[in-house]
Amino acid sequence: MKLILIGLGTVGRGLLRIFHDKRAELESLDGFRPIVIGVVTRTRGTLYHPDGLEIERLLSLERLGDYPDTPGLERGWDAERIVRASDADALVEASPSNFQTGQPALGLCLAALATGKHVVLANKGPVAVAYDELREQAKQAGRLLRFEGTVMAGTPSLRLGMQALLGCRIESARGILNGTTNYILTQMESGMSYDDALAQAQALGYAESDPSADVDGWDAAAKAIIVARALFGKHLTFDAMQVKGISAITPEDIAFARASGERWKLIAEVSRDGGSVPPVRISVSHPLAGVSGTTNAITYATDLLGDVTLIGAGAGGAQTGFALLSDLLEIYTDSTSR
Ligand code: HSE
Repeated sequence: MKLILIGLGTVGRGLLRIFHDKRAELESLDGFRPIVIGVVTRTRGTLYHPDGLEIERLLSLERLGDYPDTPGLERGWDAERIVRASDADALVEASPSNFQTGQPALGLCLAALATGKHVVLANKGPVAVAYDELREQAKQAGRLLRFEGTVMAGTPSLRLGMQALLGCRIESARGILNGTTNYILTQMESGMSYDDALAQAQALGYAESDPSADVDGWDAAAKAIIVARALFGKHLTFDAMQVKGISAITPEDIAFARASGERWKLIAEVSRDGGSVPPVRISVSHPLAGVSGTTNAITYATDLLGDVTLIGAGAGGAQTGFALLSDLLEIYTDSTSR
């Protein structure tokens, strides 16, 4: 499967690391062999080679410019040219999320679909702001659009709702959908300052490139929008949601909650009536109180099963890289079973 990778940060590298480390294991899955023919970064240039780039070398390079010259290698192509002119099977979008416009990723995803490529995204921006446009384009092109990594990293929250629960009516979803804020709150409970905890979350690659998207609640809101649209057809916009983050929560607030047998959690909730992201004090005996660090959780309220809860990784390179892999494997399996 020939791939173009947009974004070589924590997530893009996480995916490449899996390709590298699990090469034999992946090949044993019906011969799945990913070939990365293009890599696009925002500030470090691009690489394109129609026969494929060396994954190990991509992982070891400080700068793309250090990639050795080989016949057929193109260094000067821009992202749009690589997407349009190549014969990749799929575009993998793992660049930073833009929650205002979804760009520049949105344009590249639409161009990829228009030129016959499948699209998988970990980037939340395009899915949160232009779900319908992407779906329509994918449908017209007869290509698959997958975005498991946009919600709870590789923990299959969307696949659970869209595939395993198909036939149930999902009425609402509620949970902890941002790893960075949950990590910060957990660390603050252990006595760390807000600033230090945020700096750690950034250093570990959990936070968005602009971490205000995490701490002000917009990342969790984007995930709630995606869940609502993909799982129960509810159109939501950021403007229509009440969103509040955790940046105003002080060590005193944490201590006060603890003295009352409670914990602060940033909860995202969405139903057919609307959605919100509030910081909430919950009892330590509440099931979500034990969801700590970058772990996330989501509870779907369904008509036939009642509540169904999934708990698992919510952020991280390997964890989100796996989400992209799971989408690619679904596309691969679909194409090989035809
Ligand atoms: N910044 C996001 C989070 C990354 O902390 O949850 C995963 O979407």
